[in-house]
Amino acid sequence: MPRSITVSAVAHIRSGGVPTSVPHPRLQTLRMACRRVLEAAPVHAIHEQLHPQLSPSAWHVGHTHFVEALWLRSRLLEDGADLLPLEALYLPEQCPKAERGGRLPDLRALSQWCDAMSEQADAAWIQAAGRWSHHGMISSGYLLGFVTQHYAQHLEILRMVQQVAAAAAATDLGSHTALQAEAPSECWQHLPGRHIEVGDLPNSPAPYDNELGHHRVELPGFDIARMPVSNGQWLAFMLAGGYERAELWSQAGWVWRQQLGTAAPFHWRKRPDGWFAVLPQGGLQSLRSDEPVYGICHHEASAFACWRRARLPHELEWLTARRERQLDAAGKVWEWCANALYPYPGFRAFPYPGYTLPWCDGGHYVLKGGSRWTEPEIRRDSFRNFYTADMRHIFAGLRLAR
Ligand code: AVJ
Ligand code: FE
Repeated sequence: MPRSITVSAVAHIRSGGVPTSVPHPRLQTLRMACRRVLEAAPVHAIHEQLHPQLSPSAWHVGHTHFVEALWLRSRLLEDGADLLPLEALYLPEQCPKAERGGRLPDLRALSQWCDAMSEQADAAWIQAAGRWSHHGMISSGYLLGFVTQHYAQHLEILRMVQQVAAAAAATDLGSHTALQAEAPSECWQHLPGRHIEVGDLPNSPAPYDNELGHHRVELPGFDIARMPVSNGQWLAFMLAGGYERAELWSQAGWVWRQQLGTAAPFHWRKRPDGWFAVLPQGGLQSLRSDEPVYGICHHEASAFACWRRARLPHELEWLTARRERQLDAAGKVWEWCANALYPYPGFRAFPYPGYTLPWCDGGHYVLKGGSRWTEPEIRRDSFRNFYTADMRHIFAGLRLAR
Protein backbone atom coordinates (compact mmCIF):
# COMPACT_ATOMS: atom_id res chain seq x y z
CA MET A 1 0.00 0.00 0.00
CA PRO A 2 1.46 3.38 -0.97
CA ARG A 3 2.14 5.11 2.34
CA SER A 4 2.31 8.59 0.87
CA ILE A 5 -1.19 8.54 -0.53
CA THR A 6 -3.48 11.15 1.01
CA VAL A 7 -7.08 10.81 2.03
CA SER A 8 -8.33 13.25 -0.56
CA ALA A 9 -6.42 11.39 -3.26
CA VAL A 10 -7.82 7.98 -2.39
CA ALA A 11 -11.25 9.50 -2.30
CA HIS A 12 -11.25 9.41 -6.07
CA ILE A 13 -9.75 5.99 -6.66
CA ARG A 14 -12.10 3.69 -8.48
CA SER A 15 -12.20 0.04 -7.60
CA GLY A 16 -13.89 -2.34 -9.96
CA GLY A 17 -15.65 0.55 -11.64
CA VAL A 18 -17.44 1.50 -8.43
CA PRO A 19 -16.52 4.97 -7.19
CA THR A 20 -15.51 4.98 -3.57
CA SER A 21 -15.36 7.95 -1.25
CA VAL A 22 -13.59 8.71 1.99
CA PRO A 23 -15.15 6.06 4.15
CA HIS A 24 -17.43 6.07 7.10
CA PRO A 25 -18.38 9.45 8.52
CA ARG A 26 -19.18 7.99 11.95
CA LEU A 27 -15.74 6.45 12.19
CA GLN A 28 -14.19 9.84 11.42
CA THR A 29 -16.47 11.56 13.93
CA LEU A 30 -15.70 9.14 16.74
CA ARG A 31 -11.96 9.32 16.12
CA MET A 32 -12.11 13.10 16.27
CA ALA A 33 -14.29 13.06 19.39
CA CYS A 34 -11.65 10.93 21.15
CA ARG A 35 -8.89 13.30 20.01
CA ARG A 36 -10.84 16.32 21.21
CA VAL A 37 -11.00 14.95 24.74
CA LEU A 38 -7.21 15.21 24.84
CA GLU A 39 -7.19 18.71 23.45
CA ALA A 40 -9.71 19.83 26.09
CA ALA A 41 -7.69 18.44 29.01
CA PRO A 42 -4.77 20.17 30.77
CA VAL A 43 -1.74 18.82 28.95
CA HIS A 44 -0.07 17.45 32.10
CA ALA A 45 -3.16 15.42 33.01
CA ILE A 46 -3.50 13.25 29.92
CA HIS A 47 -0.66 10.90 30.92
CA GLU A 48 -1.84 10.58 34.51
CA GLN A 49 -3.80 7.67 35.84
CA LEU A 50 -6.54 9.55 37.67
CA HIS A 51 -8.36 6.52 39.01
CA PRO A 52 -7.16 2.97 39.79
CA GLN A 53 -9.50 1.47 37.18
CA LEU A 54 -9.00 4.08 34.47
CA SER A 55 -6.06 4.35 32.09
CA PRO A 56 -4.68 7.79 31.23
CA SER A 57 -6.79 9.51 28.57
CA ALA A 58 -3.85 9.60 26.14
CA TRP A 59 -3.67 5.79 26.33
CA HIS A 60 -7.32 5.38 25.27
CA VAL A 61 -6.72 7.54 22.24
CA GLY A 62 -3.54 5.70 21.23
CA HIS A 63 -5.13 2.31 21.94
CA THR A 64 -8.18 2.94 19.74
CA HIS A 65 -6.07 4.09 16.80
CA PHE A 66 -3.74 1.13 17.33
CA VAL A 67 -6.63 -1.38 17.41
CA GLU A 68 -8.08 -0.01 14.17
CA ALA A 69 -4.69 -0.34 12.45
CA LEU A 70 -4.09 -3.78 13.97
CA TRP A 71 -7.30 -5.35 12.69
CA LEU A 72 -7.51 -3.55 9.38
CA ARG A 73 -3.91 -3.24 8.22
CA SER A 74 -1.99 -5.83 10.21
CA ARG A 75 -4.45 -8.71 10.40
CA LEU A 76 -6.53 -8.21 7.24
CA LEU A 77 -4.17 -6.59 4.73
CA GLU A 78 -0.96 -7.92 6.30
CA ASP A 79 0.55 -4.48 6.21
CA GLY A 80 1.24 -3.60 9.82
CA ALA A 81 4.92 -4.18 10.56
CA ASP A 82 5.07 -0.67 12.02
CA LEU A 83 2.64 -1.71 14.77
CA LEU A 84 4.72 -4.49 16.28
CA PRO A 85 6.81 -2.32 18.62
CA LEU A 86 3.63 -0.66 19.91
CA GLU A 87 2.03 -3.88 21.14
CA ALA A 88 3.88 -3.56 24.46
CA LEU A 89 2.04 -0.28 25.04
CA TYR A 90 -1.36 -0.62 23.41
CA LEU A 91 -2.29 -4.28 23.87
CA PRO A 92 -3.89 -4.19 27.32
CA GLU A 93 -2.60 -7.63 28.28
CA GLN A 94 0.97 -6.53 27.58
CA CYS A 95 0.92 -3.29 29.56
CA PRO A 96 -0.41 -2.97 33.12
CA LYS A 97 -2.59 0.12 33.66
CA ALA A 98 -0.07 1.65 36.05
CA GLU A 99 2.71 1.54 33.43
CA ARG A 100 0.79 3.00 30.51
CA GLY A 101 1.34 6.66 31.36
CA GLY A 102 5.11 6.26 31.51
CA ARG A 103 5.33 4.53 28.13
CA LEU A 104 3.18 7.01 26.21
CA PRO A 105 4.63 9.62 23.84
CA ASP A 106 3.95 13.30 24.52
CA LEU A 107 0.82 14.93 23.14
CA ARG A 108 2.50 16.31 20.02
CA ALA A 109 4.04 12.98 19.04
CA LEU A 110 0.84 11.10 19.86
CA SER A 111 -1.25 13.49 17.77
CA GLN A 112 1.06 13.18 14.78
CA TRP A 113 1.05 9.40 15.08
CA CYS A 114 -2.78 9.37 15.30
CA ASP A 115 -2.99 11.53 12.17
CA ALA A 116 -0.73 9.11 10.34
CA MET A 117 -2.67 6.07 11.58
CA SER A 118 -5.97 7.59 10.47
CA GLU A 119 -4.63 8.50 7.06
CA GLN A 120 -3.27 5.00 6.51
CA ALA A 121 -6.46 3.44 7.82
CA ASP A 122 -8.64 5.54 5.51
CA ALA A 123 -6.61 4.32 2.54
CA ALA A 124 -6.76 0.77 3.85
CA TRP A 125 -10.56 0.86 4.23
CA ILE A 126 -10.84 1.82 0.58
CA GLN A 127 -8.38 -0.86 -0.43
CA ALA A 128 -10.33 -3.39 1.62
CA ALA A 129 -13.63 -2.38 0.05
CA GLY A 130 -12.09 -2.98 -3.37
CA ARG A 131 -9.68 -5.87 -3.44
CA TRP A 132 -10.88 -7.49 -0.20
CA SER A 133 -14.61 -7.09 -0.70
CA HIS A 134 -15.03 -10.88 -0.81
CA HIS A 135 -13.63 -11.25 2.70
CA GLY A 136 -16.34 -12.02 5.26
CA MET A 137 -15.12 -9.36 7.71
CA ILE A 138 -15.51 -6.72 4.97
CA SER A 139 -18.55 -7.88 3.00
CA SER A 140 -20.61 -8.21 6.18
CA GLY A 141 -19.54 -4.81 7.46
CA TYR A 142 -18.35 -6.58 10.58
CA LEU A 143 -14.84 -5.14 10.74
CA LEU A 144 -16.03 -1.57 10.28
CA GLY A 145 -18.68 -2.09 12.92
CA PHE A 146 -16.17 -3.63 15.31
CA VAL A 147 -13.68 -0.79 14.94
CA THR A 148 -16.35 1.92 15.11
CA GLN A 149 -17.88 0.43 18.25
CA HIS A 150 -14.43 0.18 19.78
CA TYR A 151 -13.95 3.94 19.41
CA ALA A 152 -17.47 4.46 20.76
CA GLN A 153 -16.83 2.36 23.87
CA HIS A 154 -13.52 4.06 24.62
CA LEU A 155 -15.11 7.48 24.05
CA GLU A 156 -17.53 6.77 26.91
CA ILE A 157 -14.57 5.65 29.04
CA LEU A 158 -12.79 8.91 28.15
CA ARG A 159 -15.82 10.74 29.51
CA MET A 160 -15.41 8.78 32.74
CA VAL A 161 -11.81 10.01 32.89
CA GLN A 162 -13.08 13.55 32.28
CA GLN A 163 -15.54 13.19 35.13
CA VAL A 164 -12.81 12.08 37.53
CA ALA A 165 -10.65 15.02 36.45
CA ALA A 166 -13.59 17.41 36.81
CA ALA A 167 -14.32 16.11 40.29
CA ALA A 168 -10.87 17.13 41.47
CA ALA A 169 -11.34 20.68 40.21
CA ALA A 170 -15.01 21.35 40.99
CA THR A 171 -15.78 24.32 43.20
CA ASP A 172 -18.43 26.33 41.35
CA LEU A 173 -21.85 26.31 42.97
CA GLY A 174 -23.56 29.28 41.35
CA SER A 175 -27.22 29.47 42.19
CA HIS A 176 -27.92 25.77 42.03
CA THR A 177 -30.52 24.15 44.22
CA ALA A 178 -29.90 21.24 46.56
CA LEU A 179 -31.33 17.78 45.89
CA GLN A 180 -34.64 16.91 47.55
CA ALA A 181 -35.28 13.38 48.83
CA GLU A 182 -38.25 11.57 47.37
CA ALA A 183 -39.99 8.59 48.97
CA PRO A 184 -39.75 5.59 46.63
CA SER A 185 -43.00 4.18 45.30
CA GLU A 186 -42.45 1.79 42.42
CA CYS A 187 -44.84 1.50 39.54
CA TRP A 188 -44.61 -2.25 38.87
CA GLN A 189 -45.23 -3.75 35.49
CA HIS A 190 -46.14 -7.42 35.50
CA LEU A 191 -44.89 -9.65 32.71
CA PRO A 192 -46.29 -13.18 32.61
CA GLY A 193 -43.98 -16.17 32.15
CA ARG A 194 -43.19 -17.17 28.59
CA HIS A 195 -40.63 -18.66 26.20
CA ILE A 196 -38.24 -16.09 24.79
CA GLU A 197 -35.78 -16.22 21.91
CA VAL A 198 -32.32 -14.90 22.68
CA GLY A 199 -29.13 -14.48 20.68
CA ASP A 200 -30.60 -14.28 17.19
CA LEU A 201 -29.62 -10.99 15.53
CA PRO A 202 -30.12 -11.29 11.78
CA ASN A 203 -30.24 -7.52 11.24
CA SER A 204 -27.26 -6.47 13.32
CA PRO A 205 -24.15 -6.05 11.15
CA ALA A 206 -21.60 -6.20 13.94
CA PRO A 207 -22.87 -7.78 17.11
CA TYR A 208 -20.34 -8.79 19.74
CA ASP A 209 -19.76 -12.50 20.24
CA ASN A 210 -21.47 -12.39 23.64
CA GLU A 211 -24.76 -11.26 22.05
CA LEU A 212 -24.91 -14.34 19.83
CA GLY A 213 -25.91 -17.97 20.28
CA HIS A 214 -29.54 -18.46 19.32
CA HIS A 215 -31.46 -20.22 22.07
CA ARG A 216 -34.84 -20.39 23.78
CA VAL A 217 -35.31 -19.65 27.44
CA GLU A 218 -38.32 -20.35 29.62
CA LEU A 219 -38.67 -17.15 31.60
CA PRO A 220 -40.91 -17.22 34.70
CA GLY A 221 -43.29 -14.30 35.27
CA PHE A 222 -41.87 -11.24 37.06
CA ASP A 223 -42.52 -7.62 37.96
CA ILE A 224 -40.22 -4.84 36.78
CA ALA A 225 -40.31 -1.14 37.65
CA ARG A 226 -41.37 1.22 34.89
CA MET A 227 -38.71 3.73 35.94
CA PRO A 228 -35.09 3.49 37.04
CA VAL A 229 -34.36 4.51 40.64
CA SER A 230 -34.07 8.32 40.82
CA ASN A 231 -31.62 10.66 42.55
CA GLY A 232 -34.32 11.70 45.01
CA GLN A 233 -35.06 8.08 45.89
CA TRP A 234 -31.36 7.41 46.34
CA LEU A 235 -31.14 10.31 48.79
CA ALA A 236 -34.09 8.78 50.68
CA PHE A 237 -32.07 5.54 50.94
CA MET A 238 -29.11 7.50 52.30
CA LEU A 239 -31.28 9.36 54.82
CA ALA A 240 -32.86 6.05 55.91
CA GLY A 241 -29.37 4.87 56.90
CA GLY A 242 -29.06 2.53 53.92
CA TYR A 243 -25.28 2.77 53.92
CA GLU A 244 -25.10 1.95 57.65
CA ARG A 245 -27.44 -1.05 57.86
CA ALA A 246 -25.34 -4.21 57.38
CA GLU A 247 -28.48 -6.36 56.99
CA LEU A 248 -29.21 -4.72 53.61
CA TRP A 249 -25.82 -5.65 52.15
CA SER A 250 -24.31 -8.85 50.83
CA GLN A 251 -21.23 -10.07 52.66
CA ALA A 252 -18.89 -8.86 49.91
CA GLY A 253 -20.93 -5.67 49.62
CA TRP A 254 -20.53 -4.90 53.32
CA VAL A 255 -16.77 -5.45 53.14
CA TRP A 256 -16.73 -3.03 50.20
CA ARG A 257 -18.96 -0.57 52.08
CA GLN A 258 -16.62 -0.45 55.07
CA GLN A 259 -13.77 0.68 52.82
CA LEU A 260 -15.84 3.43 51.20
CA GLY A 261 -15.34 6.99 52.37
CA THR A 262 -18.28 9.27 51.61
CA ALA A 263 -21.45 7.19 51.51
CA ALA A 264 -23.03 8.65 48.36
CA PRO A 265 -22.82 8.05 44.60
CA PHE A 266 -19.40 8.43 43.03
CA HIS A 267 -19.78 11.95 41.61
CA TRP A 268 -21.99 13.44 44.35
CA ARG A 269 -20.50 16.16 46.51
CA LYS A 270 -21.81 17.43 49.84
CA ARG A 271 -22.07 21.14 50.45
CA PRO A 272 -23.46 22.79 53.58
CA ASP A 273 -26.87 23.08 51.93
CA GLY A 274 -27.05 19.60 50.41
CA TRP A 275 -25.89 17.28 47.64
CA PHE A 276 -24.64 18.31 44.20
CA ALA A 277 -22.96 16.48 41.34
CA VAL A 278 -19.84 16.72 39.22
CA LEU A 279 -20.35 16.17 35.49
CA PRO A 280 -17.72 15.23 32.89
CA GLN A 281 -17.93 18.78 31.52
CA GLY A 282 -16.81 20.10 34.90
CA GLY A 283 -18.24 22.29 37.62
CA LEU A 284 -20.80 21.41 40.27
CA GLN A 285 -24.35 20.97 39.05
CA SER A 286 -27.73 20.52 40.65
CA LEU A 287 -29.04 16.99 40.92
CA ARG A 288 -32.63 16.67 39.72
CA SER A 289 -34.59 14.50 42.06
CA ASP A 290 -36.52 12.78 39.23
CA GLU A 291 -33.48 11.91 37.08
CA PRO A 292 -32.13 8.34 37.23
CA VAL A 293 -29.34 7.95 39.78
CA TYR A 294 -25.90 6.85 38.57
CA GLY A 295 -22.44 6.56 40.07
CA ILE A 296 -23.30 3.47 42.10
CA CYS A 297 -21.80 0.00 41.99
CA HIS A 298 -23.48 -3.40 41.97
CA HIS A 299 -23.06 -3.72 45.75
CA GLU A 300 -24.93 -0.45 46.33
CA ALA A 301 -27.62 -1.29 43.78
CA SER A 302 -28.24 -4.63 45.51
CA ALA A 303 -28.45 -2.98 48.94
CA PHE A 304 -31.00 -0.47 47.66
CA ALA A 305 -33.07 -3.29 46.16
CA CYS A 306 -32.98 -5.15 49.49
CA TRP A 307 -34.14 -1.98 51.27
CA ARG A 308 -37.14 -1.88 48.91
CA ARG A 309 -37.76 -5.64 49.45
CA ALA A 310 -37.03 -6.13 45.78
CA ARG A 311 -34.10 -7.31 43.65
CA LEU A 312 -32.22 -6.43 40.49
CA PRO A 313 -33.61 -7.84 37.23
CA HIS A 314 -31.92 -10.67 35.38
CA GLU A 315 -30.66 -9.31 32.06
CA LEU A 316 -33.20 -11.48 30.20
CA GLU A 317 -36.03 -9.98 32.24
CA TRP A 318 -34.73 -6.52 31.34
CA LEU A 319 -34.49 -7.55 27.67
CA THR A 320 -37.99 -9.00 27.63
CA ALA A 321 -39.54 -5.95 29.28
CA ARG A 322 -37.65 -3.72 26.88
CA ARG A 323 -38.89 -5.64 23.83
CA GLU A 324 -42.44 -5.25 25.20
CA ARG A 325 -41.93 -1.48 25.54
CA GLN A 326 -42.51 -1.67 29.30
CA LEU A 327 -39.40 0.30 30.36
CA ASP A 328 -39.48 4.06 30.66
CA ALA A 329 -36.32 6.19 30.67
CA ALA A 330 -34.12 3.31 29.48
CA GLY A 331 -30.79 4.45 28.01
CA LYS A 332 -30.18 7.31 30.46
CA VAL A 333 -27.98 5.30 32.81
CA TRP A 334 -26.51 1.82 32.51
CA GLU A 335 -28.70 -0.50 34.56
CA TRP A 336 -27.06 -3.12 36.76
CA CYS A 337 -28.54 -6.59 36.37
CA ALA A 338 -28.59 -9.36 38.96
CA ASN A 339 -26.59 -11.85 36.92
CA ALA A 340 -22.95 -12.21 36.02
CA LEU A 341 -21.86 -12.32 32.37
CA TYR A 342 -22.08 -15.80 30.87
CA PRO A 343 -21.71 -17.16 27.35
CA TYR A 344 -25.06 -17.88 25.71
CA PRO A 345 -25.54 -21.51 24.62
CA GLY A 346 -23.87 -21.83 21.21
CA PHE A 347 -21.40 -19.03 22.00
CA ARG A 348 -18.37 -18.81 19.70
CA ALA A 349 -15.56 -16.42 20.64
CA PHE A 350 -15.08 -13.71 17.99
CA PRO A 351 -13.03 -11.91 16.75
CA TYR A 352 -10.62 -12.89 19.55
CA PRO A 353 -10.97 -15.16 22.60
CA GLY A 354 -10.22 -12.29 24.96
CA TYR A 355 -13.13 -10.03 24.08
CA THR A 356 -15.63 -11.89 26.26
CA LEU A 357 -14.38 -15.16 27.72
CA PRO A 358 -11.98 -13.83 30.39
CA TRP A 359 -14.85 -11.82 31.87
CA CYS A 360 -17.23 -14.78 32.18
CA ASP A 361 -15.61 -15.46 35.56
CA GLY A 362 -18.65 -14.99 37.78
CA GLY A 363 -17.37 -11.62 38.98
CA HIS A 364 -18.44 -9.40 36.07
CA TYR A 365 -22.08 -8.32 36.24
CA VAL A 366 -24.15 -7.39 33.20
CA LEU A 367 -25.38 -3.85 32.58
CA LYS A 368 -28.08 -3.00 30.04
CA GLY A 369 -29.38 0.10 28.34
CA GLY A 370 -26.68 2.74 28.02
CA SER A 371 -25.98 6.13 29.57
CA ARG A 372 -26.34 9.68 28.27
CA TRP A 373 -22.65 9.39 27.33
CA THR A 374 -23.15 6.21 25.28
CA GLU A 375 -22.80 6.61 21.53
CA PRO A 376 -25.55 5.33 19.17
CA GLU A 377 -23.35 2.44 17.96
CA ILE A 378 -23.59 0.86 21.41
CA ARG A 379 -27.29 1.53 21.96
CA ARG A 380 -29.07 -1.71 21.18
CA ASP A 381 -31.14 -3.91 23.42
CA SER A 382 -28.90 -6.93 22.87
CA PHE A 383 -25.71 -5.13 23.98
CA ARG A 384 -24.26 -6.61 27.16
CA ASN A 385 -21.94 -4.36 29.11
CA PHE A 386 -20.06 -5.89 32.04
CA TYR A 387 -18.05 -4.72 35.03
CA THR A 388 -17.05 -6.03 38.45
CA ALA A 389 -19.40 -5.36 41.37
CA ASP A 390 -17.27 -2.55 42.83
CA MET A 391 -17.17 -0.25 39.75
CA ARG A 392 -18.95 3.04 40.33
CA HIS A 393 -17.27 5.43 37.90
CA ILE A 394 -19.20 3.99 34.92
CA PHE A 395 -22.48 5.98 34.69
CA ALA A 396 -24.47 3.05 36.10
CA GLY A 397 -27.69 3.02 38.09
CA LEU A 398 -30.50 0.51 38.60
CA ARG A 399 -34.07 -0.48 38.06
CA LEU A 400 -35.88 -2.79 40.46
CA ALA A 401 -37.59 -6.11 39.82
CA ARG A 402 -39.35 -8.65 42.03
C1 AVJ B 1 -17.33 -3.89 27.63
C2 AVJ B 1 -16.75 -1.71 28.35
C3 AVJ B 1 -16.18 -3.60 29.69
O1 AVJ B 1 -13.82 -1.41 28.48
O2 AVJ B 1 -12.99 -3.34 28.83
C4 AVJ B 1 -12.90 -2.00 25.03
C5 AVJ B 1 -15.02 -2.78 26.17
N1 AVJ B 1 -13.18 -4.13 25.10
N2 AVJ B 1 -11.85 -2.58 24.44
C6 AVJ B 1 -13.84 -2.63 28.34
C7 AVJ B 1 -13.72 -2.97 25.46
C8 AVJ B 1 -12.00 -3.88 24.47
C9 AVJ B 1 -15.00 -3.29 27.59
N3 AVJ B 1 -16.29 -3.11 28.30
FE1 FE C 1 -10.15 -1.54 23.88
